[in-house]
Amino acid sequence: MKILSIETSCDETAIAILDCQGDEQSATFDVLSHALLSQIEIHREYGGVFPAVAKREHAKNLVPLLQSSLEEAEMLREDAQNLPDEVRTQIGILLERESDMADAFLSFITETERPDIDAIAVTYGPGLAPALWVGVNFAQALSLAWNIPLVPVNHMEGHLMVALAKRDSVNEGRLVIEDVALPVLALLISGGHTEIDLMDEWLSYKLLGETRDDAVGEAFDKVARMMDLPYPGGPEISRLAEKSRQDPEEMNTFILPRPMIDRPDFDFSFSGLKTAVLYTLKDRPDLSEQEREQLAQAFEDAVSDVLISKVFRALEETQAQTLAIGGGVSANIHIRNRFEKEIEERFPYIDLRFPPTGLTGDNGIMIGLAGFYRFLRGEFAEKGTLAADGNLSLSKGAY
Ligand code: KG4
Ligand code: ZN
Repeated sequence: MKILSIETSCDETAIAILDCQGDEQSATFDVLSHALLSQIEIHREYGGVFPAVAKREHAKNLVPLLQSSLEEAEMLREDAQNLPDEVRTQIGILLERESDMADAFLSFITETERPDIDAIAVTYGPGLAPALWVGVNFAQALSLAWNIPLVPVNHMEGHLMVALAKRDSVNEGRLVIEDVALPVLALLISGGHTEIDLMDEWLSYKLLGETRDDAVGEAFDKVARMMDLPYPGGPEISRLAEKSRQDPEEMNTFILPRPMIDRPDFDFSFSGLKTAVLYTLKDRPDLSEQEREQLAQAFEDAVSDVLISKVFRALEETQAQTLAIGGGVSANIHIRNRFEKEIEERFPYIDLRFPPTGLTGDNGIMIGLAGFYRFLRGEFAEKGTLAADGNLSLSKGAY
């Protein structure tokens, strides 16, 4: 079956089309198209994501992105279509607030054939509410126009599913999710979230811990900003830190705190760590380039110590068989290397999984993967009633 998935929870507008086969035990996903428009350049001006701007950009991008996705999947056929008045009215109401998008949407729908797509999947939370709403309403309009089911997807479940996925060794364009030993412990680290969840049965989650203030990615971004590095800061800090690691002879004189590392729970706090970097920079305003690299390294070391310590304790306490690490920060090379090395040493029986290259950050494919499993369970939104939920949590369960 073919799923068209839509993601607009933050600063990427993304659409993917996947041909999905199989079931919960073993599934394959052929990527027919994978389109993404990043707003990074626009948000860079503000040093972070501005919700109203994100919303405006999604509204502008969605119809052109839909068109190019269908084209890439060789599903775009021009042909005049009749849209029943009733459906046109319902779509008009759904897209009322985005009048430019509504016009572009209606002309697209009435000028192209309905493609061979079986369902739409869309992120309905968590994320920036104004940004989520644009995607949700667009998806609802599409599901009405094509008269196919709409599957609501939790963004974090998307990050988890793509972390469990592997690229097929022969067919590069195919992802496979199979042989997943339960329970799965999920460490989800992104710009908006930092949490540890236990999936003891397929698609059923218990939140073990989360951040009480900043998300890890947010801390990377803020520290980068203090150091005058561009947004998003994660890759920039990582680049500096790696330079420092190539020079192991040099003593790193920066020592940063590891907040909440000794507490017996699984919660995190990164704002104190961020403030410690701020004070260091205030105390020593003219750091050399080498010292800046060392400070970046000290920050990454502190972050990874905390993540490893909490996750390892969760592994001990839960009998998890699989550890899946997902979200934008899972691209971080140092965090990956440390988990790989230390899991091998301390928990050799654990199956450690990271997202395939290029799929750590927000994308449409991850929403399609999670959408497939929810589709298999028949979790569809009633026509025109889906609401975005900026604070949606994984433990809420089915839509
Ligand atoms: O999952 P994601 O794309 O968006 C959210 O759902 O938030 O995560 C974005 C976050 C940003 O904070 C970015 O700085 C961080 O992921 N990030 C990284 C790296 N690449 C992206 N953080 C650390 N190291 C990286 N290599
Ligand atoms: Zn994300």
